[in-house]
Amino acid sequence: MQSFDMTGRVAVVSGAAQGLGRATALALAEAGSDVVLVDRNREGAEATAATIRGFGRRTAVHDTDVSDPAAISELFRTVDETFGRVDFLGNIAGDGILAKPEDLTIADLHKVLQNLVVGRFAMCQEAGRRMLARGSGSIMNIGSLASSTALGRGHIAYSMAMGAVIQMTRELSTEWAYRGVRVNCVTPAQVVNPSLAARMDQDPTLEGRFLRGIPAGRLGQPADIGGLALLLASDASAWITGAIIPLDGGNMAMNAGGTPGHEGHAVQSFRSESKGN
Ligand SMILES: NC(=O)c1ccc[n+]([C@@H]2O[C@H](COP(=O)([O-])OP(=O)(O)OC[C@H]3O[C@@H](n4cnc5c(N)ncnc54)[C@H](O)[C@@H]3O)[C@@H](O)[C@H]2O)c1
Repeated sequence: MQSFDMTGRVAVVSGAAQGLGRATALALAEAGSDVVLVDRNREGAEATAATIRGFGRRTAVHDTDVSDPAAISELFRTVDETFGRVDFLGNIAGDGILAKPEDLTIADLHKVLQNLVVGRFAMCQEAGRRMLARGSGSIMNIGSLASSTALGRGHIAYSMAMGAVIQMTRELSTEWAYRGVRVNCVTPAQVVNPSLAARMDQDPTLEGRFLRGIPAGRLGQPADIGGLALLLASDASAWITGAIIPLDGGNMAMNAGGTPGHEGHAVQSFRSESKGN
């Protein structure tokens, strides 16, 4: 199990206040890593930090907006000063906006691309520069089921952006592999977060419809990413780069796509919570 040991490593994890980001941060800290927690929800990230300190690891909280490349540069300058190295990036936070294709404003399309494509790239670039300088490092980008399959239901901007995250991963892994930096992409679906929980409360048929597309027979929980994040962050995955790995209970394999059946054409704003489901 030594290859899974993260002692002495430094991880930067975005979206660390809750959900997949929090679960990733905790898994790495349990394995010995110090963890820099990035989330615009400072209070939530502080709660994650308190748990990590309980494991005896060093941690710091930054309320950086990960759609803002200037703020991202500043974040990594601070990490240089405080931690002196970056071994792993969990590139997780990021929002979408739901709208029917014929109604989506170009301004909203730009916002989603800024959040999920430009922001994720800026994080990869800042972390990657540091990893290349040391000749080692690992990046886990979070895509979505929507990276590879159409969901309908107003996901046009989100799907376009998440498709780009897969290609970004392939290009970066190809350019950086021989210099010791690995880049992989995890594509989740139907992992319960507060917004999905609220939607299921409002619509009692939703969970059943989701489950028809999940061979594993249950919805995902944030903790489901823990083992995979640790695998990708650690030397245990030294020969894995450029991989696109579903985290979806088998949804992608059976080509179930998004929610079977129709939810009508409701158009709503959403945060990172409802996308990809
Ligand atoms: N949950 C799923 O089923 C699912 C499926 C596919 C893809 N994803 C993707 O995984 C990522 C995380 O999903 P989750 O379920 O953990 O979401 P979540 O809503 O539970 O948590 C997201 C966290 O990111 C933070 N955040 C969002 N935008 C930010 C920004 N611009 N700057 C700083 N912090 C920001 C939020 O404050 C929140 O704490 C998202 O990009 C989402 O699109 C999730």
